[in-house]
Amino acid sequence: MSVNDGGQPGDGLTTVRVPGDKSVSHRALLFAALAEGESRLEGVLPGADCQSTAAALRAMGVAVPEVSADGAPFTLRGVGGGGLRAPDAPLDCGNSGTTARLLLGVLAGAGVPATLDGDASLRGRPMRRVTGPLEAMGARFREKGVMDRLPIRVLGEGEFRGGRWVLPVASAQVKSALLLAGLLSGRPMEVEEPGLSRDHTERMLRAMGVPVRTARVGDPGGADRWTASIGAGPHALAPLDLRVPGDPSSAAFLVALAALGGAGKGLRIEGVGLNPTRTGFLDVFRRMGVDLEVIPDEVHRGAGDAGDAGDAGDAGVSDGSDVGEPTGTLLVRPSRLEATEVGGREIPSLIDELPLVAVLAARARGVTRIRDAAELRVKESDRIAVTAQNLRALGVTVREFPDGLDVEGTEAPLAGRAPAHHDHRIAMAFGVLGASPGCRVEVDDPAMVEVSFPGFWACLRDCAPRRPVVTLDGPAGSGKSTTAREVAARLGYLHLDSGALYRAVTLALLEADRSGRGRPEAEWSELTVEELEAFDIALERGADGFRVRVGDRYPEAELRTPEVTERVSAVARIPAVRSWLLGAQRATAREGGVVTDGRDMGTVVFPDAEVKFFLVADLEERARRRLAETRDGGELGAEADRLARRDREDAGRAVAPLRRAPDAEELDTTHLTFEEQVSRVVERVRGREDSHRGP
Ligand code: CDP
Repeated sequence: MSVNDGGQPGDGLTTVRVPGDKSVSHRALLFAALAEGESRLEGVLPGADCQSTAAALRAMGVAVPEVSADGAPFTLRGVGGGGLRAPDAPLDCGNSGTTARLLLGVLAGAGVPATLDGDASLRGRPMRRVTGPLEAMGARFREKGVMDRLPIRVLGEGEFRGGRWVLPVASAQVKSALLLAGLLSGRPMEVEEPGLSRDHTERMLRAMGVPVRTARVGDPGGADRWTASIGAGPHALAPLDLRVPGDPSSAAFLVALAALGGAGKGLRIEGVGLNPTRTGFLDVFRRMGVDLEVIPDEVHRGAGDAGDAGDAGDAGVSDGSDVGEPTGTLLVRPSRLEATEVGGREIPSLIDELPLVAVLAARARGVTRIRDAAELRVKESDRIAVTAQNLRALGVTVREFPDGLDVEGTEAPLAGRAPAHHDHRIAMAFGVLGASPGCRVEVDDPAMVEVSFPGFWACLRDCAPRRPVVTLDGPAGSGKSTTAREVAARLGYLHLDSGALYRAVTLALLEADRSGRGRPEAEWSELTVEELEAFDIALERGADGFRVRVGDRYPEAELRTPEVTERVSAVARIPAVRSWLLGAQRATAREGGVVTDGRDMGTVVFPDAEVKFFLVADLEERARRRLAETRDGGELGAEADRLARRDREDAGRAVAPLRRAPDAEELDTTHLTFEEQVSRVVERVRGREDSHRGP
């Protein structure tokens, strides 16, 4: 792991922080509740999952204050290991596996009867991995619904004996549940796992004065194994004074964003937790070519700890001395990505980041292989299946395996929908992809991110460099709309066809006139804004651009009928029409990344647009293209006359006449192929994007 003091302010990097670590926040709330005395907690994640833990504790008689949205410090008076009260109603763990599994251990160990339940996603996740070992040690449960699933009642009876358990798969939740059951029952407990899962429980319990022993057990015949144990009690928990570090799993999304070029020159992410059991993604990302530096914060207690954040192999081993959670700053810059292979022992240290690795892989050179990750199938969603489906829907080649994926990287534009399947990390992984250059991804359930990263979407927006607004103006039939649409698709921008708005107004006027309810055509020039408003014409944002809505319809072919085309220029010169449409057009470009075409886009609507073109072509060529487009077999000369008349009207009007903006590049398309036109525009926009980003 390279560590240096680079990245001083002034290097063009945007500084950000991520919300508190979800795993540490759950444990901080729970352990402070079980402590004897008053704990002080700062930076607790206010996400929905931690709110589930807080609410469950309140239902058991612990006065947990409101977890504020800004991570402000608060104090929490613990009730002691024996102080939890049996709740009156089932405890709702929401979407949170950690809440459910840790509480199963706590309740079983403390002998407190309670029923645990959760949302549909949590009800689909296995629980016997926790209740099985606890039952073998004397705890008793009743599954109230489906086998191995919530709702489950902890009966709170029977004698819990403690013991030793060997986990088939490394799991921090199961390990923690067993250690907590041992702690609260006062019985000895030892858990062995085949890899080191995250060790926040061990670190925090030790910091609270409980002698938790951890060891790496050499296995002469193969890979090392790990144990964590607590001796017979009683053990009292001393209160905590804790500032929760930034969540490395949340930081991972921003690292990927910056590497993909979705955050300008890059990001400086401060205060990130660097517990080595969590930072496997840093090694994998670096293998993939991510330009990344890690600067450990002043090392507190566990000397040497932060420096090897990348080496899970040495993590968490301690002689029982007080070990905090190391933190540091990550510096990330846009990177050229390469495929990699991920599997085996590194999986537990980046299990939450694997969907994100797959997303990066979609933009890397070569085929990335992820294996040994069957555990991903029983997370908030089946993350293997969902990641594969979503990537495929965007145009990426993916092969699915029982325990992983092969993802073939591509530079092609990626666009489409990515359903979140009620899974916050899926929503964020695809949100990151959608925010990177050349991609357009719609995430269906954006609110899901509240589970672990409140403010995620605003953070993406704040990190993003402003993408240019591109205007293509020109006379009728110069190929603006088709070019603009294709340019938008290749860049992942949104397309706005402003002519469609004038056509929609014309259509609405014609229909009102014909139905006898509206103004006769001869009086259209006296239109008022109130009359226009009554038409209920609006622009709606779709996957690839803005659509015109008229009342409850989305007209398309109707906008291009000869009746509309004949009249549209006369309608477009009415001052009330122009001023009324101005606000809606401008609103489309607030976030940049829009390609618009029309007559006055570069002069009146977006005078500050970063990239402007003025498309021209010989009249005859334009007439030929228009006839080919409409396929109505009309006569070339007559079509040319119609176009010329419209040009005269558009160029001759007093308001917003058709003309080239002084800073627009004129592009004569008469002898250009469509591909040539499109790439000329795309290249200029890319150059402009780079000048925003590059050094
Ligand atoms: O596709 P074509 O170039 O034939 O026309 P359009 O873009 O659909 O625009 C239809 C008409 O709307 C133009 O002839 C103009 O009169 C008017 N228009 C305008 O005045 N200002 C714009 N920004 C776009 C269109």
